[in-house]
Amino acid sequence: MSSTPALLEMRGVTAGYAQDIDVLRDVSLRVDAGRITGLIGLNGAGKSTLVKTICGFLPPKSGSVAFEAADISGLAPHKLIDLGICCIPQESSLFPQLTVEDNLLLPLLGRRKRFGGVMRDRLQEVFAQFPALHEKRSQPAGSLSGGQQKQLEFGKAWLQQPKLCLVDEPSIGLSPRVSEEIFTWIEKFAAAGMGILLIDHNVRRVVRMSDRVCVLSLGRITAEGEAAEFQGDLHRQVQEWLGLHF
Ligand SMILES: Nc1ncnc2c1ncn2[C@@H]1O[C@H](COP(=O)(O)OP(=O)(O)OP(=O)(O)O)[C@@H](O)[C@H]1O
Ligand SMILES: [Mg+2]
Repeated sequence: MSSTPALLEMRGVTAGYAQDIDVLRDVSLRVDAGRITGLIGLNGAGKSTLVKTICGFLPPKSGSVAFEAADISGLAPHKLIDLGICCIPQESSLFPQLTVEDNLLLPLLGRRKRFGGVMRDRLQEVFAQFPALHEKRSQPAGSLSGGQQKQLEFGKAWLQQPKLCLVDEPSIGLSPRVSEEIFTWIEKFAAAGMGILLIDHNVRRVVRMSDRVCVLSLGRITAEGEAAEFQGDLHRQVQEWLGLHF
């Protein structure tokens, strides 16, 4: 565990949708600037719930969430963008009737002062990286293919220049080629200094690109460590972490 202050730190968080049922139990986890924390676990383990808890959709019942050493537990989701936290959720965050360009620029509305100078350059970068978005910039986002919609989510995030980006299942439903493009784009985010919390069912890819890996099983962190600790027989390790002994 690093001694430098974390960009994001969850400490002993317990959370759930119903008063008497906890989905997350005593979860502690950190994300550092410029580094990727990978979070893996079976369906229903609570990975998306963890993201929703960080984003203020689900206040912790106990424990705390800190961003840059300030407590953000239960802070309203719309306030996170001003702090520099961006979430690319498992479900779409796009407005299907709005154009591609309007979707890209929407989070920046009313925030021009903060984003003004570099906005045009970043928009050009997004269009250069994803030519289909440029081609279809005046079309409704809902008319894009699944892969292009995911590109739009990442383009939107890039424009926000967040310090922390929470990425939940980015490759779901995508072809291997488009998935790889998206994973490369996530690496670019980290190389630009962002801290990333990455959740994806492609465990091998997550472990390969993460600096730190956490395993969530039935709402508890059951294994975690630096990437170097994950060099052995991954298949066997994952089975052990997830309790799948054969
Ligand atoms: N809105 C909700 N209301 C009540 N229970 C919910 C809600 N969303 C999720 N749950 C429950 O919380 C638990 C964890 O769900 P969650 O979506 O966090 O899992 P996950 O690890 O993200 O799974 P997946 O890999 O399928 O995305 C599950 O038992 C799920 O049924
Ligand atoms: Mg999920």
